[in-house]
Amino acid sequence: MPGAETFRASADAYDRHVGRYGASLAAALIEFAGIEPGMRALDVGCGPGALTAVLAERLGEANVRAADPSEPFAQACSTRLPGVEVVVAAAEALPFADNTFDVTLSQLVINFMSDPEAGVREMARVTRRDGVVASCVWDYAGEMTLLRAFWDAARDIEPERAAIADEGVVMRWCGDGELAELWRGAGLREVRFGQIVARASYKNFEDLWAPLTTGVAPSGAFTKSLDDEGRAALHDAYRSRLGVGEEPFELTARAWAVAGIAP
Ligand SMILES: C[S@@+](CC[C@H](N)C(=O)[O-])C[C@H]1O[C@@H](n2cnc3c(N)ncnc32)[C@H](O)[C@@H]1O
Repeated sequence: MPGAETFRASADAYDRHVGRYGASLAAALIEFAGIEPGMRALDVGCGPGALTAVLAERLGEANVRAADPSEPFAQACSTRLPGVEVVVAAAEALPFADNTFDVTLSQLVINFMSDPEAGVREMARVTRRDGVVASCVWDYAGEMTLLRAFWDAARDIEPERAAIADEGVVMRWCGDGELAELWRGAGLREVRFGQIVARASYKNFEDLWAPLTTGVAPSGAFTKSLDDEGRAALHDAYRSRLGVGEEPFELTARAWAVAGIAP
């Protein structure tokens, strides 16, 4: 799980970085999973609560629970959504009884788990028979524009170091069809695999760049590891790869999505 420790950073920096796509991605994942009013849902690896918030809006806070092993993120989620029970726990050891939820979801988490096979088995265990287990991960190697352009720019300025940190290379379960294999291996039935697209708006390039300098996420950790000169070179290469500057702009980001029926 390359980079899992980089999520110990502040929830605010996360929200301004990848979290900016969270609500839009959550709406697409909820639609893909076929979630309906009245369901009880668990959000695994909730982070500061992007998916949890949309679930709570659709299902009511009392019908939603959330878990994350990062204390600051779990705390941020709990503060944001006081009616949702948020626990500090990893997917591999969920503190819930068998058959507790109608639907168990995770958004952008599978590739950060230490043991994804065990994590998905746990997600299936806490889901009732015939309930839904669904997830999504970024298409890091392709059309997650923010991160693809970042690693391409990083490779422009530090080819060797960036090549071994590039999330398009190091992240498992993020290739076309890979999540479906993981779902079937965990005993889930009627597995569906597809793509969903999220969007985010930026005031200008500096609005996009600022959170990276805090060290959040693997891309932020790489940015922070550079000296001042290297960071300035990355800043310019990244802006040029995105072809943006002082004007507002929008980026799209593709994620792979999977859903299956619990045994
Ligand atoms: C990219 S963030 C996604 C957060 C949130 N789901 C969202 O959509 O914004 C990845 C999250 O996975 C969490 N995480 C890392 N390892 C995990 C594990 N083994 N089980 C559950 N969550 C994990 C991190 O703490 C972090 O909150």
